[in-house]
Amino acid sequence: MMYMKICIVYYSRTGNTAYVVEVLKKAFSNISVDVDIYRVFPIREYSRPLHINPRVIYDTLMRRGTDIRFDPEKPMLENYSIVIIASPIWIGRLAPPIQRFLKSYVTSIKNLVIITTSAMSIDCRRIEKNIAELWSLKPMLCINISVTTIKDSTKLKQLINDIVKKLIEILGK
Ligand SMILES: Cc1cc2nc3c(=O)[nH]c(=O)nc-3n(C[C@H](O)[C@H](O)[C@H](O)COP(=O)(O)O)c2cc1C
Repeated sequence: MMYMKICIVYYSRTGNTAYVVEVLKKAFSNISVDVDIYRVFPIREYSRPLHINPRVIYDTLMRRGTDIRFDPEKPMLENYSIVIIASPIWIGRLAPPIQRFLKSYVTSIKNLVIITTSAMSIDCRRIEKNIAELWSLKPMLCINISVTTIKDSTKLKQLINDIVKKLIEILGK
């Protein structure tokens, strides 16, 4: 298999996306693919109750972002074969820290993958359209994972293994 190195950049406020990233990392390491993980945080984290936090609504729909920091550091995206960006869905959109990341740090990446987590199943074409309109980016793959799937560990592992297989296949072509 060709050498590849994967970058995962994610934001997670209540743990679902962080868990998906953990399972994804394990799936890649099972096939000996190197993964570097970068977590994005808003400089000022959103406080609960999130659904009625006016800053959540304003940053998600109007401001389309918020100031961010990285743990452990800002990723050098050009060093990776694939960049996977994972975000919760807030009010039908990517969460503001990821919106800011896409706007300010992602230029034209060839192998961009978007993974979203949400309470309901979401049609990824809507997310892709939004990403194309706002930031002129075209992911090679966009996948939504619902909370029901996240809570079913067998189903989640199967789905993640399928995603990993598909990515390796696409890159091998
Ligand atoms: C402010 C807010 C808005 C949300 N909006 C939606 C939504 O529009 N559609 C949906 O299916 N889920 C929505 N959710 C649920 C989250 O997308 C879901 O719980 C996600 O997995 C959370 O990810 P996290 O645990 O990594 O933060 C929303 C959650 C919050 C807190």
